[in-house]
Amino acid sequence: MQTYTSAELRAKFLQFFKDHGHVVIPSASVIPDNDPSVLFTTAGMHPLVPYLMGQTHPSGSRLTDVQKCIRTGDIDEVGDNSHLTFFEMLGNWSLGDYFKREAISWSWEFLTSEKYLGIDPNRLAFSVFEGNEDAPRDQEAYDLWREMGVAEDHLFFLPAKNNWWAPGPVGPCGPDTEMFIITDKEPCGPNCSPACDCGRYLEIWNDVFMQFNRKPDGSLEPLAKRNVDTGMGLERTICVLNGKKSVYDTDAFSYILDKIQELAGKTYGEDPAVTRAMRIIADHTRTATMILGDEKGVTPSNVDQGYVLRRLIRRAVRMGMQIGLPENSLASISKVIIDQFAPVYPELLRNEKIVLEQFSLEEQRFERTLKQGLREFEKAVSKLNGSTQLDGLTAFHLYDTYGFPIEMTVELASERGLSVDEAGFAEHFKAHQALSHAGAEQRFKGGLADTSEQTARLHTATHLLHAALRKVLSPDVAQKGSNITPERLRFDFSFSRKMTKEELAQVQDLVNEAIQADYPVTCEEMSVDEAKSQGAIGLFESKYGERVKVYTMGPVSKEICGGPHASHTGELVSFKIQKEESSSAGVRRIKAVIGAKAD
Ligand code: ALA
Repeated sequence: MQTYTSAELRAKFLQFFKDHGHVVIPSASVIPDNDPSVLFTTAGMHPLVPYLMGQTHPSGSRLTDVQKCIRTGDIDEVGDNSHLTFFEMLGNWSLGDYFKREAISWSWEFLTSEKYLGIDPNRLAFSVFEGNEDAPRDQEAYDLWREMGVAEDHLFFLPAKNNWWAPGPVGPCGPDTEMFIITDKEPCGPNCSPACDCGRYLEIWNDVFMQFNRKPDGSLEPLAKRNVDTGMGLERTICVLNGKKSVYDTDAFSYILDKIQELAGKTYGEDPAVTRAMRIIADHTRTATMILGDEKGVTPSNVDQGYVLRRLIRRAVRMGMQIGLPENSLASISKVIIDQFAPVYPELLRNEKIVLEQFSLEEQRFERTLKQGLREFEKAVSKLNGSTQLDGLTAFHLYDTYGFPIEMTVELASERGLSVDEAGFAEHFKAHQALSHAGAEQRFKGGLADTSEQTARLHTATHLLHAALRKVLSPDVAQKGSNITPERLRFDFSFSRKMTKEELAQVQDLVNEAIQADYPVTCEEMSVDEAKSQGAIGLFESKYGERVKVYTMGPVSKEICGGPHASHTGELVSFKIQKEESSSAGVRRIKAVIGAKAD
């Protein structure tokens, strides 16, 4: 097999599809537009969903690109041979244009032609959809591969688990056909196939035939147009094509690891702990560079994308300390990443100054407290007296005072064979958030007696709303999120369709009735089991034996919560729903306001 650099693969792919009538479009931002269900763009098709659903794309019906993608679900696995938090995905799309025949024959040509990847067909295998109650088996795709000359024993019918692709529980989806390199590993048994993870078959490309839309009730409807969505992970494909064991051994990472070795004065690949730390630093700094340098420019914070960014940088700093990286090393590592990527993602160069500044600032912020925090952590561990769990308050203190992301405390604890009471942490975190919102929003004071009191009143309204929704819609309704500003409350909850006018009116009336009744709001501490047996709703993740706060509002609401709250429901004066809308798949969002309080 020929060998390729990532730049060569990127260029070849885009050129091939350009030669076949596709328009090369630039990568979209790593922060998705109008999709609150995920923090980052996770696949090449993600920014194209509106067009797959039928809108007209300004560049036409045949598109190709390399998309910046971030997936943090497996962040704890980073450091092994294959997991990454940032990767590039090459793709070609037909928006109601060509379908299976062209997609398959072009995939074949790109993979096998000497002009492109020149892979020996004997080293390629393919899987196609075997069929289920949603759609029949994809005989057409199978026959097309056979037409290309693929041997029967290189073709596999596999179930939906392997060969049905969808970006989420609802939205565009369809059967796919996947392409694999056959490695030198012997088959793991008589049934060895691309479905097993023995390492004989390594996936490099996926052609999805998107012709359905999955509705919230689980049923499928045909899309107005039949589309093709393909995805080839750049780093993984380079790794496989070049016969490397690890993505970190490819040119996508070697220059970053060179820089880290130079700064640390240590060698990659000798000591396993040092190797893992260097891989984590390389991956996390690369991903953080892509987030900071994105056209939508996020900076480190304690919410959403900013929090992920903070976590990545802080974990890299901590790994850096383990291998002896001098202070402010991440900015120098980021600099080589920007230089490498600049020709592909020019926004990085435009944002270079901000990126490097933010790395230095966040590293300084963290270093100022890290050593002290680690001492606090050790002190807490030494006081455990045989217990193997660090309590939630300590974890919260490390977060709040020393800037330790909870995931870092969990990682530190697990390095010592300990766990962390994460539910306890969440309770403290929630209580603190309600208070700090009030603090941060002092500037909205005009007209409001007191912002923290306003937050508490809105928080109480949230409980009444939650109870009313369960009564009117279904006891299965569960809270999915909540956000309070001095002006309004926002409440996300699980429910799969738009609420009717009548339902909205009923919910609003129920909350107003509870306000009129002026119930006292009382708080009791009890064990999780007691709370459950009293019918309290809310987070039950707390461990057995843990004590939680339960807030009761007359006969209407009983909920586990950190507070704070109004002392009587009458303090809310009145309640009005302003908006009910979709928040994400299967989740609705209500925005509501309460009446001003007379002095
Ligand atoms: N959307 C498909 C994937 O991400 C191609 O694998």
